[in-house]
Amino acid sequence: MGTGSAAPEKILTNFDLEKLVDTSDEWIRVRTGIERRHIADDKTTSATMAFEAAQKALKDAGIKPKAIDHILIATVTPDMPFPATACIVQERLGATKAAAMDLNAGCSGFIYALSLADALIRSGNGENILAIGVETLSKITDWTDRNTCVLFGDGAGAAVVTPTEEKEKGLIATYTQSDGSMGRLLMLPGGGSRNPTSLHTVEQRMHFVKMNGHDLFRPAILSMVEAAVSVLEKAHLSSEQIDLLIPHQANLRIIDAVAKKLKLPREKVYVNLDEYGNTSAASIPIALDEAKRKGLVKTDDLVLMVAFGAGLTWGAALLRV
Ligand code: UT7
Repeated sequence: MGTGSAAPEKILTNFDLEKLVDTSDEWIRVRTGIERRHIADDKTTSATMAFEAAQKALKDAGIKPKAIDHILIATVTPDMPFPATACIVQERLGATKAAAMDLNAGCSGFIYALSLADALIRSGNGENILAIGVETLSKITDWTDRNTCVLFGDGAGAAVVTPTEEKEKGLIATYTQSDGSMGRLLMLPGGGSRNPTSLHTVEQRMHFVKMNGHDLFRPAILSMVEAAVSVLEKAHLSSEQIDLLIPHQANLRIIDAVAKKLKLPREKVYVNLDEYGNTSAASIPIALDEAKRKGLVKTDDLVLMVAFGAGLTWGAALLRV
């Protein structure tokens, strides 16, 4: 699986945030594990970062843009509601044969994209699928709300999913789930058909992320563990066989709790949220690409990716490299 990633150059540290809201580096580090995050400038959008990550992934896979059959972009921060950010990227890449669409499954979006890519390939509907997770969360962050503004960051990760002759290689199983009854815990209420953009929605700050992090904490752990166990069951494998866990990077305490329940030692868990914060749908593909480039993912390794997010949604994917 060819991979690539991109993140804006500008860094915002916890100390920078101390100047914006009533918070402290210590609170953020201890409660979340985050130390800094990458923040987009005015010219950087989800499409520009997705394009950069996609170019790197295609190079890594040795595949030309014209050979791509589908572009799937997981994001909650598209360039605009339509056209799809995937179509903007399709044009920039010159992927003239590709179908293109965005999908919104919150922070689980990249897992959903992998699951769709796998299904498209298995059903004979395509050979080369470009799956991207990208977010420009800084542009929907309320920089006056300390409950949320310390958490998020921007970035993109991409993967080229292709068929493999070897039965036990590549994406060996995926699992996806949702529960809309808890959707109110994490939302962006303004700008859609329920609350169309108006002076009222702007004044009420309804175009920014609203999150009840406290009430999400437990469901996040439980659902990520459920997804991990379910995908392992599907593949008739056990957690001892995992070489690397790549969890959604929302909170180090959540990651540690999930790893503990799966009985995985810390050295088998990839963590980079100290550097990026929570980049929602981009967090897993960025981490996968970094882990590969650091030599932490070797041939025949079993990688478990697991995510949880807005919707609520959750899911997992098992990759044999
Ligand atoms: O991406 C997928 C979806 N998101 C998640 O899965 C996020 C899950 N939740 C979390 O990661 C954590 O709940 C948070 C990091 C969001 C919050 O941590 P917490 O330990 O659950 O804190 P809390 O919300 O219970 O707040 C504890 C205290 C409160 O003060 P009082 O009421 O005890 O006086 C907050 O007002 O911490 C206060 N607080 C802060 N203090 C300093 C909240 N944010 C901050 C802050 N700096 N930035």
